[in-house]
Amino acid sequence: MGRKKIIVTGGAGYIGSHTVVELVAHGYDPIIVDNYSNSFPEVIDWLEELIGFRPINHNLDCCDYDSLKKVFSDNSDIAGVIHFAAYKAVGESMEKPIAYYQNNVNSLLVILNLMEEFNVKHLVFSSSCTVYGTPDNGIQVAENSELKPPASPYGHTKIICEEIIQNVCGNDKIKASLLRYFNPIGAHRSGKIGELPIGKPNNLVPFITQTAIGIREKLTIFGNTYNTPDGTNIRDYIHVSDLANAHIKALDYIGNKQNEKCSIFNIGTGNGNSVKEVVDAFEKATEMKLNYQIGEKRAGDVEAIYANAQKSNSILGWTAERTLEESLLSAWKWQLNLKAIDFKLD
Ligand code: UFG
Repeated sequence: MGRKKIIVTGGAGYIGSHTVVELVAHGYDPIIVDNYSNSFPEVIDWLEELIGFRPINHNLDCCDYDSLKKVFSDNSDIAGVIHFAAYKAVGESMEKPIAYYQNNVNSLLVILNLMEEFNVKHLVFSSSCTVYGTPDNGIQVAENSELKPPASPYGHTKIICEEIIQNVCGNDKIKASLLRYFNPIGAHRSGKIGELPIGKPNNLVPFITQTAIGIREKLTIFGNTYNTPDGTNIRDYIHVSDLANAHIKALDYIGNKQNEKCSIFNIGTGNGNSVKEVVDAFEKATEMKLNYQIGEKRAGDVEAIYANAQKSNSILGWTAERTLEESLLSAWKWQLNLKAIDFKLD
């Protein structure tokens, strides 16, 4: 049997590129679809160095039915789709809600239409722990925890897309897995691929590494008066390669006839760490001093949330393996690599 072809939308992005590496390592043949709206064509070169051949890639927008149709029709034997491509900035979604609904919902509908048309049955969808909103029954959320009214249009698109997929799976033509990611951090152990935030990073770890290397003057910790042991927010930080591996497990899971038509899995470590703990762990792992200050709370931040990962551990057979220190060290290695190759993000 040949290698199974998997369309990876957003395959040049942060999580997508790490998943491409894992797909190849597990005997799959990824077909990358990306329009580089929030990624860079250079990622394809870096992937080539990592996996030893140039991955097939198509520069197109997943909302463009005709262009994407050509990818499906040129490949008669596609085994599945992993759909990463989406707008993902919470703050930007407040400013441009229509663009978020249009892009995130439309691209999914185009993909579902084409899957049905070309008899492609397996879908893995990138969801987010944002669907839990601010959890009230404790801070550890399980897949059956209540979904809260979304705090942003971005979060709402994830809820809408989950619901669309759940309803579509009822027709027996498509089986899907919805993966609710917690906070991905870190980079491939080689330091050759990683997160590439355009402009000033919103996320904590790229802000830390950019501060450590001197691109930013100092990190601001957004508030230290939360009701947590050290007053700073708690999140479940997961190494991006562990997260990438969960997609391989999800494809295996969907491929087993007995398994549910639409499965949902939390993809997190099951541990919460505070912002202060992340900063301390970075300083310890790199033996560097980080310039930081305590600032105002950021609007919309959930106080504390982390995964109950028991379902993915026992049913998916997946567990996060890398520690917080390893994750932070890999993020630092990546930042150093960007400097070494003089790659400019702005
Ligand atoms: N933080 C700082 N300073 C910074 C950046 C972040 O203190 O400069 C703090 C935040 O306040 C938060 C923590 O670091 O407590 C993590 O923040 P991130 O922005 O890295 O991640 P979030 O948890 O806010 O966001 C993530 C995903 C989103 C998703 C959201 C809600 O990146 O896509 O979770 O679930 F929508």
